[in-house]
Parts: sequence; C-alpha cells; structure tokens
Amino acid sequence: MSESKKRIMSGMRPTGKLHIGHYMGVLRNWLSFQDEYDCFFAIADWHALTTKFDQTKDFRQNILDVTLDWIASGIDPEKSTIYLQSLVPETAELHIFLSMITPQNWVERDPTLKDMVKILRGNLDEPEKEQDLSGIISYGLLGYPVLMSADIMSFNASVVPVGTDQLAHLEFTRDVVRRFNHIYKTEYFNEPMPKLTQTPLLKGIDGQKMGKSFNNDIKISDSDEETAKKIMRAITDRSRIKRTDPGHPDECEVVCPYFEIFADEETVKTQRKNCEEAIWGCADCKKQLAVIMNDHFREVRTKRKELEQNLDYVHGIIKGGSEKARETAVKVLKDVKEIMQLY
Ligand code: TRP
Ligand code: SF4
Repeated sequence: MSESKKRIMSGMRPTGKLHIGHYMGVLRNWLSFQDEYDCFFAIADWHALTTKFDQTKDFRQNILDVTLDWIASGIDPEKSTIYLQSLVPETAELHIFLSMITPQNWVERDPTLKDMVKILRGNLDEPEKEQDLSGIISYGLLGYPVLMSADIMSFNASVVPVGTDQLAHLEFTRDVVRRFNHIYKTEYFNEPMPKLTQTPLLKGIDGQKMGKSFNNDIKISDSDEETAKKIMRAITDRSRIKRTDPGHPDECEVVCPYFEIFADEETVKTQRKNCEEAIWGCADCKKQLAVIMNDHFREVRTKRKELEQNLDYVHGIIKGGSEKARETAVKVLKDVKEIMQLY
C-alpha cells in the first residue's frame, strides 16, 4: 500500500447478499488487483439511497451482508481498503463542487436513468411508457453519476474496475475530470480508465439476466442444499423431453455454460458426451454440476460462516477502513480547495 502504487476505486450498492454472478464477474476482477494497486472499495450506501430512500430499514443488514461476502470472497482488508461511502463525508463535499461544474444536460443524458426509475417503481417488467419522469426522478438520483465521479475522484483513482453497465458512468467521470482540470487550469485529476471483467456474465437459472429481483439467482452464501435445489430448477435443452432423448449441450442455456465456467476441460468433455448420448439424464447432469459448484464455493462459504460468528471484527473493518479511506480523501479535498482557491 505504498504511495507509489496506482489507485483503484470501485464500489457496489449494498443490495443484500451477493450472488455468484457478482462473485465471478465483479469480485474476482477486484481480487486480481489487490497486490498491484492501492485499492479502495466502497459500499455505496448513498447510491442505494437514490432509489431506496424509503427502504432504509434494510440498510444496516445489507451493508453487513455485502461486507461479509466481500471478505469471504477474498477481498483482504490488510491489502485493500474496504469502506462505507457515508463514513467518508469528504466525498459529499467534493460532490458539491462537482455538481457546480456539471452541466444539467450531462446528467439528464444518463442512459441508465430510465432503468433506475423502473427499479424505483418496483415494476421492472412494465413496458416502457413514454411519460414525464421529472416528478419521479429525485434531485439525488439525477446526480447519481456526479456522486460516482466524486467517489472516484476522492482518491484521484486512475483505474476503475466496472461491468459494462457502468461504462457510461465512467465516461461521465472522465468528462467531469477534464472539465475540472480545464476550468481550474490544472492537471491534478487523473482521467480514470475502466478495467472490464474477463468472465462472461452468468445467467440466472431461468436463462435470463441473474438478479435478486428476478428470483433466479444463486447466492454466494447459499448452502449446498439450496444450490443443488436451484440447479435442479434450471432450464435445459428444451427439446429434450424424455430421459432417452439425446441432448444438445449447445441448446442448454444454463447448465452447460455453468459447466464450462466451473468444471475442468476433461469434465466438460464427459458431460457433453453423456448428454449427447443420453447416458445422463438432465437430473444426473445437474447433480454433478451442483457438486462441482459446491466444491468451488466451499472455502468462501466456510469463511463467511466464520465471519458471521465474528461480527465485531466485520464492523471494525468497515469503521477502520472508512477512517483509512478518509486519510486519502482529506488530502485530495485539501488539494481541490487549494486549486479552486477557496477559503
Ligand atoms: N454505480 C455502481 C453500480 O451500481 C456502484 C458504484 C458506486 C461505483 N460508486 C462507484 C462503481 C465508484 C465504481 C466506482 O454498480
Ligand atoms: Fe443440459 Fe445436462 Fe440436460 Fe444436457 S444433460 S440438456 S447439458 S442439463
């Protein structure tokens, strides 16, 4: 964690227990940077407030669940700084400055706004209705990308690992950085570069995008039994009706891709053959997959169970990490005020 290391910043909204899509897609990407970079990982509770301002009773538990999942997955508090966004008030102060230099039409252009409105109303399936959203979108939600810029710029991070869904927000941050540097005639802020994850997105067991609200996800913290049960519900090759029908692995939208992600090459070969030659029924195949997945997550799950018995430690990580994050954010904010020639 020396000063010379480049800084990475990323975050997640605390939506509750994370699923294996988060693990394979986001967390493993984060893990890979822990040695090479000085990493700051935020539990973005202010961002959660932009849409869930009326569900704050779940916040404390959700924050805890996300932190447990992170540490169990290998985010190492000795190497990386895990912090709670709302415990770093410097970010809010920076957000005020950034909000002054951000044109209104930049925030109104945010392509994710419409989706966030849907989350806000809790009706993800309702077909798009063209309507005036200005009464539904709060001032804070409109500022979502400005707040995310403030997160990243609080540490003057140069790299931000994100999924493709956040690329527009990162481009926004780069615009804000350029605008700040231009207005105040400085080169202080880095233009942060995205680092996309390599892993293909894991689909939910119904073949749709995996998500908590779709009831199609497998949690990092699910038990072996829960995992096996969910896999049993997964869709398969829809043309394989009888046990004796030969299967088509490439038409099997969930089980087969999961094998490719979690099993070794030899096992995948056997599995495909056993499917094609109807040696395995889908239930046999799914049982095998559940075993492989449970093996894969055993260590993480065991670690999570241990941490659940030691919540004081986990709360300590959140508090201590936030204090440490502030040390850097305080310095950046001091520089910013100097550059802006504020009192
Ligand atoms: N908006 C991000 C998401 O929904 C979470 C987030 C908040 C974030 N602050 C960040 C990501 C800063 C990267 C950098 O996934
Ligand atoms: Fe899919 Fe396995 Fe059934 Fe083949 S045997 S269709 S790969 S679940």
